[in-house]
Amino acid sequence: MAQEKDSQVTAAAVLAALSQIQDPDLHRDIVSLGFVSEADVNVCGDNVSVKIVLTTPACPVREEMKKQAQDLILALPGVGHAEVTMDAAVRSTGVGRGPKVIEGVRNIIAVASNKGGVGKSTVAVNLALALKDFGARVGLLDADLTGPNVPTMMGIPQGFQADSGLAFVERYGLRVASLGFVLRRGLPVVWRGPMIGTGVRQLMHDLPWGAEGELDYLIIDLPPGTSDASMSAAMEAPIAGAVIVTTPNAVSLEDAVKAVSMFEKLSVPVFGLIENMSYFVCPHCGERTEIFGHGGVREAAEELGLDFLGEIPLQVDVRTGADLGVPIVESDPGSPVAQAFAAIAQKVAAKTSVQHFFAEPAPAGA
Ligand SMILES: Nc1ncnc2c1ncn2[C@@H]1O[C@H](COP(=O)(O)OP(=O)(O)OP(=O)(O)O)[C@@H](O)[C@H]1O
Ligand SMILES: [Mg+2]
Repeated sequence: MAQEKDSQVTAAAVLAALSQIQDPDLHRDIVSLGFVSEADVNVCGDNVSVKIVLTTPACPVREEMKKQAQDLILALPGVGHAEVTMDAAVRSTGVGRGPKVIEGVRNIIAVASNKGGVGKSTVAVNLALALKDFGARVGLLDADLTGPNVPTMMGIPQGFQADSGLAFVERYGLRVASLGFVLRRGLPVVWRGPMIGTGVRQLMHDLPWGAEGELDYLIIDLPPGTSDASMSAAMEAPIAGAVIVTTPNAVSLEDAVKAVSMFEKLSVPVFGLIENMSYFVCPHCGERTEIFGHGGVREAAEELGLDFLGEIPLQVDVRTGADLGVPIVESDPGSPVAQAFAAIAQKVAAKTSVQHFFAEPAPAGA
């Protein structure tokens, strides 16, 4: 129980005030959601301190909620000072939801599209880094077994584990694994369907992803198409959600729709669509050119009843960063394109938190 000496304020009154704050994604108040309880409220004289524990460090309304909590507490009679601390503990999706969970991984997020070359790997890498920059512990699994691009994009030499065997490496604060680590550069790899399933399973379950601290998010970069790798990934572990990357042109969009229906059939929630190569801003004159058209993905998302997660411009330093092994979110986190990835990361994190609450019974008293 909180101290009530020399003060009319009680922890219960503080909680009652805080229960006016709604989580915009979960549509419930933060007290019934368990983000704050009596044990998180400390009253000392006219000082009130409170800790609110969100479900992700990438919460888009973190600062807004903090301010709201501060104002509500200060408005209570007998309160002179209010100190609100925001914390985060990422909860796990998928426990008890069909396939075997990956030990030490709280949430798996798949990045997919039916079409090749639309920017899945670029999004996977930068999304992982953006989530990490918010303070989450993040892993990146390259499930593209025939053409793994994650090593190059992350500046990790191809084939450097060819003799030692596959292990994940730490890079830019991420835990990364790719079959590209064990495949020598230039050697073609021919996989038959069942072998791909085995490869994906091994990447997911045979590596100690959660060693030395659980991962909040494991981002999976999928190859194009409704291939064996995508099916295996969805069947081998509970995926919190898939994000579908597409360019705004009609042909890519048609393929994106196929990816959406594949995930729906596999009972994997689709978090929404990302429009990549949305437009090009000329670095010389600043003129904006909409090479693949613009806005088509937002419209398609609306038609499909899915969320539009954001748009990434076609920008030279996104491509050079990938080729040089320093992704844009790492090399220039303040740039508009890195900020676009950060906003997408917040939406994805919020969607993941929502999945958690759907997967679990509501807390008592809610
Ligand atoms: N927004 C962007 N601006 C500039 N270049 C980009 C952008 N997005 C992706 N690229 C470049 O386009 C190429 C294809 O991107 P990427 O490899 O991420 O696509 P992919 O969908 O993963 O391809 P695949 O289907 O082969 O796996 C890469 O050279 C990448 O650097
Ligand atoms: Mg790729």
